[in-house]
Amino acid sequence: MTLSRLQRNKLVWLWGYRPADITAYGFDDGRPAADAGRYLGSDWNRRFVQDVVNDPRNHVLTEHKWVFYRFADGFGLPVPPTIGFFDSVQGTTWDGERPLRTVPQVLAELDRVRPTGLVVKPAGGGQGAQITILDRIDHATGTATTRTGEETTLERVFAALDPGGERGVSGYVLQHAVRNHPELAQLAPTTTNTCRVLTTVATDGTAHVHAASIRLGRRGGMIDNWGSGGVSIPIDVATGVMGPGILKGVPGDLTEHPDTGERFAGRELPLWQETVELCRRAAVLFPGLRFLGWDVVIGPDGPMLLEGNVHWSLRGSQMLAADGWLADPDTRERVEGLGVPLPTGRVSRQVAAGVLARGRDRARRVARRVGRTLTSR
Ligand SMILES: Nc1ncnc2c1ncn2[C@@H]1O[C@H](COP(=O)(O)OP(=O)(O)O)[C@@H](O)[C@H]1O
Ligand SMILES: [Mg+2]
Repeated sequence: MTLSRLQRNKLVWLWGYRPADITAYGFDDGRPAADAGRYLGSDWNRRFVQDVVNDPRNHVLTEHKWVFYRFADGFGLPVPPTIGFFDSVQGTTWDGERPLRTVPQVLAELDRVRPTGLVVKPAGGGQGAQITILDRIDHATGTATTRTGEETTLERVFAALDPGGERGVSGYVLQHAVRNHPELAQLAPTTTNTCRVLTTVATDGTAHVHAASIRLGRRGGMIDNWGSGGVSIPIDVATGVMGPGILKGVPGDLTEHPDTGERFAGRELPLWQETVELCRRAAVLFPGLRFLGWDVVIGPDGPMLLEGNVHWSLRGSQMLAADGWLADPDTRERVEGLGVPLPTGRVSRQVAAGVLARGRDRARRVARRVGRTLTSR
């Protein structure tokens, strides 16, 4: 049964869904409109949740990767060993002792540190944008092989970086490449696979793991991100056991890795309790950020924080929760405890504010278009 036009409009206007939510949560495949309250709509999240749970003034703590690594390390939280920040104005080595403002300075530092594998990622990056991973480096000649098998040189890698950085944030983080725990390498050996762990911090300062998943990368890719083709798999938080996974753009559930044929569904992750503990410890240390998505590498010696995310793919996470997050009363209570209103499907002050905001967004878009037309004359 497909939704009527009226039902779709209600999902958008009263529940704060975006059209892509409607498809992602199965409303186009027979899920009844009565299930609307089980999912948090993307627009609702953007308008009434995001900035309440994670104060935008504090975003820099996780969204600037260099700030994140220095801050996390300051508390002794395990992060990949980091070499420095390459930036034309304020580049510096990890210890703040030497500038990393030019390519020759970077090459000199790499020659001093001699990492066996190197990751270069934009300080303002996200969703795997612009990441280079070198798996083999010959420090005598400066030649290197990328994770996808291309031959290059260190000099070429750094000379090719856009000085503007990513998303308007300048600079790049240089970091040792870290390895998978052997059990995870067996499942997906070609990428560094990461868990995504969502934590909330209650008013009394206690942290709770809200949901977790893992991404297993595919052959031919540099990284494991779902948008780049990784398999996304839910994890049962209490036990660390993986469920059936999903691949972007491919309908149906997956129980085995498409490249290795290894079955992951039903398997227990190594070092899972340590991973949960690490995320709970980290969650309470980032002020003003109370609902974060952590990327964690489970390495041979233990879990390591790869990054924190204030925007942690609400839709991707909810697609993995079979019945929808908001079907669970404990989750509702926890989210409301963060001071956010949850949708009820009735016309309310929030909905009115949302409708107004929608109208305002549209007006702005039109004004921008008119402005562009006028200035291009
Ligand atoms: N130090 C590292 N060692 C190995 N792989 C890494 C490292 N840093 C990043 N990666 C790979 O790149 C992916 C994206 O990195 P991440 O730091 O999470 O940035 P983004 O914000 O782009 O998601 C990771 O999921 C992982 O597969
Ligand atoms: Mg990430």
